[in-house]
Amino acid sequence: MSKFSRRTFNQGTLGSLLTFSLLESLFGSDAFLEGIKPVTSKWLSDLNDLGQSVKTQKITQMQWQEQVELLMAQVNLQDLMKFVDFDKLTRNLKFAERGEKPIRFSFPEVEGLPTKIIFGHQVFAMKKGRAIAPHGHNNMATAFLMLQGQCHGRHYDRVENHEDFLIIRPTIDKQFKVGEYSTISDHKDNIHWFEATSENAFIFNIHVLNIDANIKQGGRVYVDPLGETLDGGLMKAKRLTHKEAYQKFG
Ligand SMILES: [Fe+2]
Repeated sequence: MSKFSRRTFNQGTLGSLLTFSLLESLFGSDAFLEGIKPVTSKWLSDLNDLGQSVKTQKITQMQWQEQVELLMAQVNLQDLMKFVDFDKLTRNLKFAERGEKPIRFSFPEVEGLPTKIIFGHQVFAMKKGRAIAPHGHNNMATAFLMLQGQCHGRHYDRVENHEDFLIIRPTIDKQFKVGEYSTISDHKDNIHWFEATSENAFIFNIHVLNIDANIKQGGRVYVDPLGETLDGGLMKAKRLTHKEAYQKFG
C-alpha cells in the first residue's frame, strides 16, 4: 500500500468513526430511530395541522378538541414513546417533591414531520400522591395523554369568572389509564386536576398558546374546586395563588 493510499484509507476510517460518534452523541444510540414507523410522524403532523387550523380560526376550539381526541384515540403509544426517546428522557429522573416535573424534549428530525411544530410539548412526571394542582387556562388549548402509570383526573367547565372565585361545573372525574386522554379549551373542560395514583405517572402534553391574538391574557388560573356546592350542579371555586394551590393539592 502506498503512503498516499494508506493515508487516504486511515482518513476514511477516521471519518467513519467520527461520523458514527457524532451520530451516537446526537441520538444517544443508534437504536434510537430504529423501528419508528412513519405512522407516528403522520400522527404528529396531523396534530400540527390541527394546531395551525385552530390558530388561524379555520376550526373552533371545540372542533380542535373533538379532532384531537380522535387522533389521541388512534395513537401508537409504543411508537410515540420511541419517538420522544422516553427511556432516555426519564432515566435518572428526579421527581418534584410537590406537583409535577415538566420534562422538555425535541422531536427527532424525521421524514414526514414538519420542522416547525406549532404546539408546545412536554412530558409531565409525578410520583404517587403528587398532583398537577387544579387550574384553568386562558387562551390556550391543550391535550393530555397517559403514557405510563395512572392518574385520577378531574375536569370542570369554567362557567363564570369573578374577582375572587370562579363558578365551575364538574364534567369529568375518572381514573386515566395508559392511552387515555382529555383536552381543554377556553370553552369546554377548561379546568383540570391530575393526581398520580400509581407509583409513577407520565403524561404526554401538547398545548397551543395564544389562540386568539387579540386576547393578551394567558397563563394558569389556580382554583380550589372543593368549595361550596351551588344549585344546578355548580360549585364556587376560590381563586388560589400558585403557592396556595401546590401547598393544598400538589
Ligand atoms: Fe393545564
